[in-house]
Amino acid sequence: MPVILGIESSCDETSASVCVDGQILSNVIANQTIHEAYGGVVPELASRVHQQNIVPAVQQALLNAKVSKNDIDAVAFTRGPGLLGSLLVGVSFAKAFALAKNLPLIDINHMQAHILAHFIGENKPSFPFLCLTVSGGHTQIVLVKDYFDMEVIGQTLDDAAGEAMDKTSKILGLPYPGGPLIDKHARTGNPDAYKFPEPQIPGFDFSFSGVKTAILYFIRDNVAANPNFIKENLGDICASVEKRIATILLNKLKRAAEQYNITDIALAGGVSANTGLREGLTKLGAEQGWNVFIPKFEYCTDNAAMVAIAGYYKYLKGEFAGQEIAPLARMPM
Ligand code: KG4
Ligand code: ZN
Repeated sequence: MPVILGIESSCDETSASVCVDGQILSNVIANQTIHEAYGGVVPELASRVHQQNIVPAVQQALLNAKVSKNDIDAVAFTRGPGLLGSLLVGVSFAKAFALAKNLPLIDINHMQAHILAHFIGENKPSFPFLCLTVSGGHTQIVLVKDYFDMEVIGQTLDDAAGEAMDKTSKILGLPYPGGPLIDKHARTGNPDAYKFPEPQIPGFDFSFSGVKTAILYFIRDNVAANPNFIKENLGDICASVEKRIATILLNKLKRAAEQYNITDIALAGGVSANTGLREGLTKLGAEQGWNVFIPKFEYCTDNAAMVAIAGYYKYLKGEFAGQEIAPLARMPM
């Protein structure tokens, strides 16, 4: 019955979670609101806030799980990829905790953790499955052969899907982070009101910079003709942008599933919270006869439960890290 403490601090969420024998008993997430004023995450500020939040987040996670510090068998932490200053806070905390309590350390890849969030709960995908991982920093189609055997078969050549959402929302004058706001306003609009281009990229790779520029020019030209254009059409703009981003993602996913002949299909990462994408994948999955796996909202955006569950599976394999381990801003799958 291993008790794993999971720590996540790769970007702007400080999170701690307790996993007991593969069951998540707590998942505390401290969001950083300080970045809203700057329209994006300020790395220097993010690491300072992680420093303030990490100890209370861990204390709360232990309290919620009704677990004492002395019950913990191993400390799992996000090693990368992410902002180096942010990662350093979680890695240093995990190392200090493990040293003080003489516990093994387990290093976790953040992108693998997003995918392994599907192993929280009863309904788990079967290997091999395909996972569309879409976050603020990544857009990938991953062939998941086993818990820690994953191959990226397609990825973005420029911007991530979440970045395209966030930049669109910035153009529209909405606050950061924009993805959830695009989602909110999209619910009030017509997704077929405006058509944005679908890039023709070979293979399973993506590109979002052309779409972003097309959205920018579209809004700029319309605002020049009518200064109230955004206000009057916000729902339609958001719904059309959301639909285009979702169809770009889903069209590639469909082709990958056909080529690899795989029918267990999962969604992961912060953008998997998006209503249009969730609905689009559910519909496509029903048409294609796929088993579709969509994470619960609390496991979509950055959280430590996904790190703790990944840590549990590494613990079972007996794969531990030493005290010399350091974070990696860039970390391959
Ligand atoms: O995985 P995540 O929490 O952090 C990274 O590792 O990047 O993903 C954050 C991204 C942001 O771009 C945010 O705008 C987007 O996920 N996001 C959404 C929604 N919720 C979060 N995008 C669209 N619709 C949402 N509901
Ligand atoms: Zn993430």
